Amino acid sequence: MSPSRRGILQTGAVIAVAGAAAPLLAACGNDQTEGAATEPTTTPAAKDGASEGIVAVADIPADGSVVKIVDDRKIVVTKSAAGQVNAFSAVCTHSGCTVKGVEAGSILCVCHGSQFNPVTGAVVQGPAQSPLAAIPVQVRNGIVDFA
Ligand code: FES
Repeated sequence: MSPSRRGILQTGAVIAVAGAAAPLLAACGNDQTEGAATEPTTTPAAKDGASEGIVAVADIPADGSVVKIVDDRKIVVTKSAAGQVNAFSAVCTHSGCTVKGVEAGSILCVCHGSQFNPVTGAVVQGPAQSPLAAIPVQVRNGIVDFA
């Protein structure tokens, strides 16, 4: 994975590499609490059609997550303390905000406080009523990629 092909956004600081413009994306849908959610990291599609993967396993904190945009899809990739990786749509099923990621053991949407299980995507706490949509992934050479 070449750092020259990726833009990284971390806690309010944008690291955009030449040639890979990091789009400014709204973190939430129409019902967003202003400034509440963290904007996801952007991973552009490979120009030759080959996938660069979603994220390196090593870049996901244990019992944590990374929120990414890959091919215009908002994705939250979670990793357990044991290293199990799962991926879900990062679009909250309540009102469309982008989830912040794992906090205190659950995937948190800060717009209205919904929480989701980081292994199954199931609702832990509403107001969301539906789970986050699972995204099948696999790990190859330390890179999480679409299955
Ligand atoms: S959009 Fe309302 S809790 Fe996520």
